[in-house]
Amino acid sequence: MANIAVIGTQWGDEGKGKVVDLLAEHADMVVRFQGGNNAGHTMVVDGKQFISHLVPSGILQNKTCIIGNGLVVDPEVLIEEMDYLNSKGIDVGPDKIKISERAHLIMPYHKAIDHAREAKKGDKKIGTTGRGIGPTYEDKATRRGLRFVDLLDEETFSERVRTILDEKNFYLTNYLAAESLNPESIIDNYRLYAERLAPHVTNVSISIYETIKSGKQVLFEGAQGTHLDIDHGTYPYVTSSNVVAGNACSGAGVGPKEITGVIGIVKAYTTRVGRGPFPTELFDDVGDAIQEKGAEFGATTGRRRRCGWLDTVLLRNAVRLNGLTGLAVTKLDVLGGLDTLKICTGYEHNEQRLNDFPTSLKVLAACKPVYETLSGWPEDISSVREYNNLPDNSMNYLKRLEELVETPIHIISIGPGRDETIVLHNPFLTG
Ligand code: GDP
Ligand code: IMO
Ligand code: MG
Repeated sequence: MANIAVIGTQWGDEGKGKVVDLLAEHADMVVRFQGGNNAGHTMVVDGKQFISHLVPSGILQNKTCIIGNGLVVDPEVLIEEMDYLNSKGIDVGPDKIKISERAHLIMPYHKAIDHAREAKKGDKKIGTTGRGIGPTYEDKATRRGLRFVDLLDEETFSERVRTILDEKNFYLTNYLAAESLNPESIIDNYRLYAERLAPHVTNVSISIYETIKSGKQVLFEGAQGTHLDIDHGTYPYVTSSNVVAGNACSGAGVGPKEITGVIGIVKAYTTRVGRGPFPTELFDDVGDAIQEKGAEFGATTGRRRRCGWLDTVLLRNAVRLNGLTGLAVTKLDVLGGLDTLKICTGYEHNEQRLNDFPTSLKVLAACKPVYETLSGWPEDISSVREYNNLPDNSMNYLKRLEELVETPIHIISIGPGRDETIVLHNPFLTG
């Protein structure tokens, strides 16, 4: 039996949603373990697109979907997403979507603080998604957070909201020059969310444990990407949770020996939304062409994604940090039609070669990528379904990537649709 984690290797939007939806066919349960509705995971099935922000991407395969303790959850967004899925005939009942009683709640003041802080920072802002993610994790760490277990206890919840808002309103109005919030309207709204979500709230660690114990397979769905990890990413231009595979354990409540494989999702080039250094970023026509052909707009905020060449310094870092056992390369089709392609194999800093990703942002910002140039392919590969039918130059690109990061490619994605995929090795079928 296999339990597989699927992790973004770059700065998010690698195509995790597509690969999770594809692999979920072979799993019994799909578990999100960190982040919140800063994520936007796109699935395209039979030509129809669905973007999920909170509900795990296994839902379209009718699997049990778990929202783990490591998430921060905006209940309003979750209910909207469930209603949408329900309107499409998808079962979102309490047996299908389970929420950890320990997951933290995103509250209106978290969103207000996120927005007002970014506005106050001006051009020093992080470029957050504005969903209240950072302020909610901040309250979790300082032990002032509210969890689903609190939401279900009406009296305690109301009392805590009133007390917390005293302080938050002071901060919002006096420091951030934002509007104050009314505790009673928050309490009223959250009472309705509690009624609606109560049947889904449970101890999900037990549900996952029992699933694994009964010999069924579990897929752990990462959000964001390794270089947005709060510890290992380009701090402070990161998100506020651990994104790496190790957090699948603490964010879901399972022991490390249960996870048998880790698939790293690699976009065939690199993108980033929001601010922060990006050594292989392109500012020319090639970057614009990739952005346009790849339709690189954020699935959550609609922002234009910055685009650049594939960076194997970044990828080698992701291999080590996550213990990757295989790769899924996505959006290879987008590179078709370019005469030449570049792969970054190392960085140069002060005339010295760096093979590893630096910690200092000052150093990273001053790094110049060292490139290898490969020939492109003119063909449209989106209808190819057999590896051997890919153009030679696209195979050469994939082989060079495998060599440089010393990790085998298991899956190649050549279009957004579930079926636009070449599976060389399915970790759920062969371990
Ligand atoms: P996630 O956050 O990692 O789940 O990725 P997003 O859904 O935010 O962004 C990936 C985008 O690329 C989505 O619009 C997908 O539909 C699309 N996509 C995924 N795989 C492929 C692929 O192989 N080719 C093309 N052209 N688009 C893809
Ligand atoms: P998925 O799961 C891309 C980025 C934001 C910002 C930084 C902090 O779809 O890959 P936050 O709102 O988390 O405090 O923002 O992190 N970011 C993402 N970028 N894909 C995501 O998720 C992201 N989630 C957060 O743009 O730079
Ligand atoms: Mg996304």
